[in-house]
Amino acid sequence: MARLAFHHGRQITLCEALETLIDGFPRPDEGLCMALGERLAPHLRRYHRVEETFFFPALERRLPASDALRASLRRLEGEHREDHDAASELSGELLSLSERRTREDFESIAYQARALFRNVRRHVAGEADFILPLAGQVLNRDDMAFIERAYERLEREAAGPIHPFVP
Ligand SMILES: [Fe+2]
Repeated sequence: MARLAFHHGRQITLCEALETLIDGFPRPDEGLCMALGERLAPHLRRYHRVEETFFFPALERRLPASDALRASLRRLEGEHREDHDAASELSGELLSLSERRTREDFESIAYQARALFRNVRRHVAGEADFILPLAGQVLNRDDMAFIERAYERLEREAAGPIHPFVP
């Protein structure tokens, strides 16, 4: 599942961009700040959506009726929702940062950003440890081709790069 690993890599790149942004406080890169404010949540949501719409259902169709594995997939979906909500909230803060530049504002945004990229990194690592080996065991060639086409569509729909440093 090279494609999933590739999209995991994109999510890590988003985390790195966030880290770069807050490292620059109290003089952040304004372009990066606006780009992340506008695109962070939609990009994250797109990666999550393709997993939930195509990848997880394909896995579930091939799984034995094991509650433990299905519960793990539901837990991952819950993490998607939490991360998306946190990213949406952070996006609003980033977009209004130019009007609010107190030390408390920077500290609060840096705190939110660290919490988000810690969670996204942990989630991605969890999927890499759990989902990728599982997919290798249970998905057949047709499943893989179906998922591959879904990821290709996702990439065609992608609305351009988020920032020169973030593909
Ligand atoms: Fe995920």
